[in-house]
Amino acid sequence: MVTLKSKRELEIMRDAGRIVAEILDLLRPHCLAGVRTRDLDRIAEEETIKRSAQPAFKGYRGYPASLCASVNQEVVHGIPGNRELRQGDIISLDYGVIYKGYHGDASVTVPIGEVAPEILNLLRVTEECLYLGIDQAVPGNHLSDISRAIQNHAESHGYSVVKELGGHGIGKRMHEEPMVLNYVTNGRGIRMQPGLVLALEPMLNLGADAIRTLSDGWTVVTADGKPSAHFEHTVAITPEGPEILTRAAG
Ligand code: MF3
Ligand code: CO
Repeated sequence: MVTLKSKRELEIMRDAGRIVAEILDLLRPHCLAGVRTRDLDRIAEEETIKRSAQPAFKGYRGYPASLCASVNQEVVHGIPGNRELRQGDIISLDYGVIYKGYHGDASVTVPIGEVAPEILNLLRVTEECLYLGIDQAVPGNHLSDISRAIQNHAESHGYSVVKELGGHGIGKRMHEEPMVLNYVTNGRGIRMQPGLVLALEPMLNLGADAIRTLSDGWTVVTADGKPSAHFEHTVAITPEGPEILTRAAG
C-alpha cells in the first residue's frame, strides 16, 4: 500500500531528514586514512541519540550496526568493524534514523584522500543520477521517469546500474511501497502525487551490474570486484516539485 503523508507528517519527516543530513555531514571529515569503520558507526549513533532520534538500521531484520559503511567493491550494507580506511578507498555511508515515529534515509559516497580519477568520476556520475532522478519526482510523472533518468545517465557514461536493489517509499516504516527501480522495465509504475515520500538511491558499478552477498549475510559486493558508488536522499513530492528532506539546513 502506498501511503500519502499529511502536512503534519511531512513536518516530522523534514526533522528526521535533517537529522540524517547533519549526521552524514558530521561523518564526512572523519573519513580519513587510518579511521576504522566502527568509529564512524559510533559517532553516528551518539549524534543520533543527542538529537532524540534512534538509529533506524540497528536491529532492522537483525542488522548489527547503526551505519552501513560500504568500502570500494562493497555496494551497500557493509557492516562497520575493525577495517581501517586507506588512502584511495571510497566509502558509502548510508544512514537512517527514526524521529517521532518517522524515518529519514540517505547516503553519500566519500573518497578517502587521493582517489583515482576514474573512481571519482563514478562518484560524480552517481550523484548526478540521484539529482536527475529527483528532478523527475514531480506530481503526474510516473516512477519510470525517475528510473529512466537514472539509467540513461549511468549508462551514457559507461557505468552499470545495480538491478536487484533500489529505492523505496518511506514513512512510518523504512521500506514502504512503491519500490523505485534504477532501470526501466515494461511498466511505467505508479503516478506520483503530492504527499508521496520516496527514498531514491542509485547504485552504480564501474564494471558489470552483477552483485553477490558475502557470508555475513549483509555485505553486498560487485561480482567482478570493481568499485561501486551509492547516493541516496529522502524526497517528498509536493505540488511545487521535489523537496529533498535529507538536506542539511544552511
Ligand atoms: N538505506 C538502506 C536501504 O534503503 C538501509 C537499509 S540497511 C539495513 O535499504 F541494514 F537497515 F537493512
Ligand atoms: Co534506502
